Amino acid sequence: MSVTAPNNEITVERRHPLIGAEVLGVDLARADDDACNRIREIWMRHPLLVFPDQPISDAEQIAFAKHFGALEVHPSVEHRSSRHPEIYRVANVDEAGRLLPADKPAAKYLGLTWLWHTDSSFRAVPSLGSVLHGIEVPAEGGDTLFANMYAVYDALPAEMRRRLAQLRAVHSHDYVMSLTDGLAPADDDHFTQLDAVSHPLIRRHPVTGRRSLFISPHTMAGIEGMPDSEARALFDDLIAFATRDSFVYRHKWRPHDVIMWDNRCTMHAVMPYDAANARRVMHRTTIVGDGPVLPA
Ligand SMILES: [Fe+2]
Repeated sequence: MSVTAPNNEITVERRHPLIGAEVLGVDLARADDDACNRIREIWMRHPLLVFPDQPISDAEQIAFAKHFGALEVHPSVEHRSSRHPEIYRVANVDEAGRLLPADKPAAKYLGLTWLWHTDSSFRAVPSLGSVLHGIEVPAEGGDTLFANMYAVYDALPAEMRRRLAQLRAVHSHDYVMSLTDGLAPADDDHFTQLDAVSHPLIRRHPVTGRRSLFISPHTMAGIEGMPDSEARALFDDLIAFATRDSFVYRHKWRPHDVIMWDNRCTMHAVMPYDAANARRVMHRTTIVGDGPVLPA
């Protein structure tokens, strides 16, 4: 069923007390400026939106995502769509539909998305938000978890909030690669090279003005001016705190769910699934950030 109700009949229903809201009454393939403005308003109140039953094409997904900003081209060459470079193929099959052998760099890289992260935290200007279309979803596993980092910040002890507000984390795409054997950071054939960057650990949202904890465990290589062992211990504590069940919505995919999240106040992770046998094909468009990360 394709939802084609007029834009003024868009409805929103929470799926979780803190994060995750289902949006009905809009056809993303035909969403115009008015509909997207309405969606943006809803998005600023609910950092993760779920649009069920939206069988959009890649071109329609790109057109929809461009209402919210320019689109990134992902540094992993093998995960880009050959027809649409703005489409990042979060897929364990190649474009011919063959399952990726587990020892291929493309498969290993994909496995890193199972870790908690924020999209494009390795860029000087991290992504504003992402739109993800679930095309083929496994029957078991492969759920995506989302944490509301506003709520995490609000729940941190005041003393910790003050301490973190003084700190900047170093984020590096090479660090992602170092987490898996067989991925070479200096491999120009597979990955665009990117220098390490640093971002504040507490950030301010440019639209809502709210503060959130900004961590992205898979790219955080250290903290400026802090010994690595101390930084790693602090990261471990923050990750454990931020991923408590109360902050997290678990998205169980149905085919042609389209979801969009705000990377400026959330982080996410993928639950394991049988990647050697079960197909999981999702297409992501990633919206370019609206400026450097704002400190608290
Ligand atoms: Fe991601």
